[in-house]
Amino acid sequence: MKKIVVLTGAGMSAESGISTFRDAGGLWDQYPVEQVATPEGYAANPKLVTDFYNARRKQLLTVEPNEGHRLVAALEKEYEVTVVTQNVDNLHERAGSTHVIHLHGELTKVTSSQNPNDPRQIRELLPEEYEIKIGDKAADGSQLRPFIVWFGESVPNIEVAADYVGEADIVIIIGTSLNVYPAAGLLYYTKDKTDIYLIDPAEVKVPYDRYVHVIQKGASEGMRELNDLLRTT
Ligand code: OAD
Repeated sequence: MKKIVVLTGAGMSAESGISTFRDAGGLWDQYPVEQVATPEGYAANPKLVTDFYNARRKQLLTVEPNEGHRLVAALEKEYEVTVVTQNVDNLHERAGSTHVIHLHGELTKVTSSQNPNDPRQIRELLPEEYEIKIGDKAADGSQLRPFIVWFGESVPNIEVAADYVGEADIVIIIGTSLNVYPAAGLLYYTKDKTDIYLIDPAEVKVPYDRYVHVIQKGASEGMRELNDLLRTT
């Protein structure tokens, strides 16, 4: 079986009704990134940050995977697929993808504010626990924090993701502006003969000097077109 890595960003979930970050009216227009997505922002106002992720976590209960997520999951019928996502939602899993690497954490999980990457501290929340409060404690007694990789923090899953990219026959990039590193740098790990496809309705500047087959469409329509292409090549 050929190996595919699907690298996804916020645009993957846009058709499910989750805002992207950098498009006009995106999340970073509404909430300053320094306040809600940095360790300094969390230190300055943990309640604001906790409430921001509580709201996003609860939004997950109201949204569904879109056709794009389902078509990515369906690739598993014919390929060995690894999804590497910058998204913190669980829509790939809910659409049926069985091997998903989250680079920027997961909304449905919480961890210790002292040792965020200690696996013993990371815990999946049940939907009835989605509202975290200041005073809720992790196993090590520190304040519970969202299991989210904030700007300035290390990205522990980048190496395992790079290994899969390095083994891939096909890389499919969907709905990311490729602005954020180290995720955007994953393309450097592709082999010379790896086919690279990019699905995004906007023009995305690829930080890498390689031929990329661009499908300038939304995630669902773009995945339909890509399936046709994969069948004929
Ligand atoms: P961005 O908001 O930077 O980019 C979203 C991309 O999705 C853009 O290229 C859009 O053109 C595209 N898009 C919009 N609608 C789409 C659709 N229907 N189908 C497909 N694509 C569509 O989001 P990311 O690149 O994911 O990190 O941002 C990367 C990281 O920056 C995020 O993981 C987050 C953010 O700050 C953290 O929170 C650490």
